[in-house]
Amino acid sequence: PKDKQVLIDEIRRMKKEKNAVILAHYYVDSDIQDLADYIGDSLGLSQQAAATEADMIVFCGVHFMGETAKILSPEKKVVIPDTNAGCSLADSAPADQFAAFKAQYPDHIVLSYINCSADIKALSDIIVTSSNALKIVQSLPADQKIIFAPDANLGRYIMNKTGRDMVLWDGACIVHIDISQEKLNALRVKYPEAKFIAHPECQEHILTQADYIGSTTALLKYVVDSPDEVFIVGTEAGILHKMKQAVPNKKIIPAPASENNTCACSECPYMKMNTLEKLYNCLYYELPEIHVPEDVRVKAEASVLRMLELS
Ligand code: 13P
Ligand code: SF4
Repeated sequence: PKDKQVLIDEIRRMKKEKNAVILAHYYVDSDIQDLADYIGDSLGLSQQAAATEADMIVFCGVHFMGETAKILSPEKKVVIPDTNAGCSLADSAPADQFAAFKAQYPDHIVLSYINCSADIKALSDIIVTSSNALKIVQSLPADQKIIFAPDANLGRYIMNKTGRDMVLWDGACIVHIDISQEKLNALRVKYPEAKFIAHPECQEHILTQADYIGSTTALLKYVVDSPDEVFIVGTEAGILHKMKQAVPNKKIIPAPASENNTCACSECPYMKMNTLEKLYNCLYYELPEIHVPEDVRVKAEASVLRMLELS
């Protein structure tokens, strides 16, 4: 089917018929968010994946998110609309190179941001997300030596907040490091009353200007709860869909990306690989399916479960 409404109706029908649950990240297309059973940040999505009673998880996000769902719910069928939907952070850390890096620091534990492959999770002691990373680092003994991977910007943010030293892997999110300082300055002149809120994957010089820093769910909550009326949002533009639904009368402006001429916000090319048509095919054919080798899964599960216990 090509017609959008037909696709939407068919997706709804198959979802029910197959007892499937659609989990979606805030960064995917708004039509897909509106079809999802649950929309959330990485922590919320993994908690849902662990708890669902559905027979099949259809994960509209990126590959590592589908993998995390499979790690937590191995008995379920986990499918994603496009296996090419990767992540620059996950790609920055190939398992063999990371294992060699880790071997240089035998007295360190490994904390990995959830944006990494199952192989990296299997090499890690604790997984963290942007909503619990600070809390988890603070819960560790002060003399505990830590490798933090793969997001160096999130790692640096935690180091600045906690005053702790950590060994950082040098990965970055191509979307969050692309906010244009020059265009942001211009926006702040135009909207002096605006609160600037940002995701901790942004670079340090951007984060130091932020009025509030948090995960996607935390940014959404901030916009809803704050008495302020105007916000510049330093994360992927997909989150604006839920923000505008929640507070239609507030002015919400995406932080500008560097290469665009106007103030168009950064978009994640991987998240945007999820389309209604691919979601339809994914439900219809129950493909492409995520598989994680059992030896890797068991080790990765231990580090993800440690996170869920500490959250
Ligand atoms: P959170 O939604 O957990 O804040 O993560 C943002 C992100 O970049 C996901 O890829
Ligand atoms: Fe990865 Fe960045 Fe895209 Fe999130 S927004 S999936 S961290 S590339």
